Amino acid sequence: MSALQIKLNKLKDELNYHNYRYYVLDDPEISDSEYDKLLRELQDIEAQHPELITADSPTQRVGAVPLAEFKTVKHEMPMLSLANAFSDEEFSEFNQRIVDILSKAKKYNNKDIQYAAEPKLDGLAVSLLYENGILVQGATRGDGTTGEDVTQNIRTIETIPLKLLGSDFPARLEVRGEVVMDKKGFDELNRIQRENNGKLFANPRNAAAGSLRQLDSRITAKRPLSFFCYGMGIISDDVSLPDTHSALMEVLKSWGLRINPESQIVAGVKGAQAYYQRLFDKRESLEYEIDGIVYKVDSLEYQKILGFVARAPRWAIARKFPAHEEMTKVLGIDIQVGRTGALTPVARLEPVFVGGVTVSNATLHNQDEIERLDIRVGDTVVIRRAGDVIPQVVNVVLSKRQGKPRKFKMPTHCPVCGSLVVRNENEVVSYCSGGLFCEAQRKQAIIHFASRKAMNIDGLGDKLIELLVDKGLIKTSADLYTLTHEQLASLERMGDKSATKLLKALQASKETTLARFIFALGIHDVGETTAKTLADHFQSLEKLEEASFDELLSIRDIGPVVANNVITFFKQKHNREVIDALLKTGIHWPKVNSQVSQAQPLSGKTFVITGTLSDMSRDEAKQALQALGAKVTGSVSKNTDYVVAGEKPGSKVDKARQLGVEVLTEEQFKAFL
Ligand code: IVH
Repeated sequence: MSALQIKLNKLKDELNYHNYRYYVLDDPEISDSEYDKLLRELQDIEAQHPELITADSPTQRVGAVPLAEFKTVKHEMPMLSLANAFSDEEFSEFNQRIVDILSKAKKYNNKDIQYAAEPKLDGLAVSLLYENGILVQGATRGDGTTGEDVTQNIRTIETIPLKLLGSDFPARLEVRGEVVMDKKGFDELNRIQRENNGKLFANPRNAAAGSLRQLDSRITAKRPLSFFCYGMGIISDDVSLPDTHSALMEVLKSWGLRINPESQIVAGVKGAQAYYQRLFDKRESLEYEIDGIVYKVDSLEYQKILGFVARAPRWAIARKFPAHEEMTKVLGIDIQVGRTGALTPVARLEPVFVGGVTVSNATLHNQDEIERLDIRVGDTVVIRRAGDVIPQVVNVVLSKRQGKPRKFKMPTHCPVCGSLVVRNENEVVSYCSGGLFCEAQRKQAIIHFASRKAMNIDGLGDKLIELLVDKGLIKTSADLYTLTHEQLASLERMGDKSATKLLKALQASKETTLARFIFALGIHDVGETTAKTLADHFQSLEKLEEASFDELLSIRDIGPVVANNVITFFKQKHNREVIDALLKTGIHWPKVNSQVSQAQPLSGKTFVITGTLSDMSRDEAKQALQALGAKVTGSVSKNTDYVVAGEKPGSKVDKARQLGVEVLTEEQFKAFL
C-alpha cells in the first residue's frame, strides 16, 4: 500500500469514527468545523487521485446520476409486521399467552418476562445489507417479501454508516430499522415546498417515504432523514452473538449503527405500563414522531420457542398510542368573519376523536388552501392533530368521494352583514368591506374609532367598548354619541364622575380633522399616513366618497389595493349610513382651504422621523411638521426629502445616506422649524 493510500484510509477511518461519535453516541469529540476540515482534506486528495476513490468513502454519499427506475429486491428473510395492542388489557393478554406457551414448554421460571421496550417509530422500514463491513444494499420493506432497491438514497443518510466500525462483525449482516424524518425538518421541508409551489407532504412519514423513493439521490440528500436500527435479518454464522435482543442492539451500536436512546428493558405488565406512560408523556417533545411502543421478549431463546403466527412474531407486540390522524366526513363549510373582517372558511366535521380531543371543526384558512386540498362538502378527509397544534385537514380521500359534489366558492357577500367581500390581487385573504356596520367587526371597529390617533376619545378603553357592545347599548361608532349619562353611570365600575368625564370626552372628540376622521373609519390598509394623504388631496369627505379608481391611483403613494378598498368601502350602503349618522352628531373639522395649504412652507416635502428626540415626542414633531404642510412617513425611500434623526436612530439613517437623503440632527431640526 502506498503512503498516500495509508493516509487516505486513516482519514476515512477517522471520519467514520467521528460520524459514529456524533450520530450514534451523540457525543462528538471534535467540532463541526474540525470535521469539515478532515472531510475537505479527503476531498482534495480524492480530487487529485480519483482512482483511489472507494464506495465507502465518506465523500461518496450522493450519487451523481439519477436512476430510471428502482430494481426490486427479494428479502431473503421476510420483513414481518407486528400485532397490535390498543389497551392495557390487550397487553396483559399478550403477556399471559407468552407465559402459557413458555410454561407448556417447561421454560417458564415464574418470574416477570423481560421485554425490550422501544418507541414505535413512525417512518418506514428498511433493510441494510453489509458485506465485509461495507454497505452494499439498502431496500424498502415493500410488501414484506419484495421491496425496492434504494441503495443510492440510503447512502445519503448520514446516520447510516457506509462502513462498519471494528472488525468483529459477521461477513454478511442484514440490519433492519426505520428511516424517519424529524418534525422540525418536516415543517421546514413543507415550508420550502410551499414557497416553490411544490406538493406538500401530509406528515413526516409520508415525507420520509417520498424522499426515499426519489430517483435522483441528490434530492434525497437534501431531505432531513435519519435512521434507527431495531433488529437484524440474515447473518452469516462466522461470529457468535449474544443471546438477548438488547445485547444484540448494543453490539450493532458498537459497529456504528444508531439505536434508539429511549430503548429500555422492562419487567412484566407493570414495567411495560410504566414505560408506556413515560413515553406517552414524552411523545410530543421527541424530535421524531412515534405512534406507540414495541415490546419484544428480550430472550432470544424464548423468542425461538414462541415463534410466529401468520406474518407476525408471537414474541413482540405494538402497543399503539391514540392516533394523531383520523378520517371523518365534511358536513359543511362555514364562513367565519373575524374581528378585522377577514373571512375564514371552516370545515364542519362529523365529530372525531383524534390526538386526545374530539374535533368537530377545522380551519381551511382561505380559498387557496381549499383549492389546494380540493375539499368539497360530503368528502371524507384525514384530520390530524399532533401536539398542541390546531386540527388540520391533511387531505381528501378521493376514493371515498360520492357523486360530483360542487367546488367550494367564497361568498361574494359577507354572511354576517351582507356587504361586498373583497379579495385584492396578490392577497390570499378575503374580507368584508362593511367595517363600520358589520356585527362581527363591531368591537374592533369601535375600538379603532375611539383610539388615540383616530377620534381620541379619552377614557373609552377596549374593555368599556366591549361592555357597551355586549349590553347592546351601541352597535356602531355613531351610537357612542347617543349614550346618556344615566346609561353610562349605571355600568359596572362606572360612577357618576367617570360618566360625566366620558360624555365630555365624546363631546370634545367631535372637533377633529378630516385626516383623523378618515383614519377612524377603519378602511382596510388606510393607516394614519394614507388617511392624511387622502385628506390633503381631496380636502373634503364628499370628494373622497365620490373619487374614481383612476383619480385615487393618480395620487402619490396610493396603489391599486388601497384605491380598491376605498372605493368598495364607500360603496357599501350601510357604511354610508353610519357616516351620515356620525356627521349628524355634530362631528366636524376645519375646512381645508387648498390655497392656504398650497402656500404652506413645507407642502410637498416628505419627512421621516427616527430615533428618540429629547425635547419632544415623535408624535409632536410629526404634528409640527404636518402643521407646516409636510408629509411624514414611516420609511425612507427616494421620495423622502429629510430624515430627522434623534438618539439611537437605527437603519433608517443608513438608508438615507445610501439614497443621498439629507439627515437632520435634533438641533438642526429645531432650527429648521
Ligand atoms: S420490529 C418482526 N421495532 O413497525 C418485528 N418495528 O408493524 C419487526 N416499527 O414494519 C419490526 N418501530 O416499520 C420494530 N422499534 C421497532 C419499530 C418497528 C417501528 C415499524 C416497522 C414495521 C412495523 C411493524
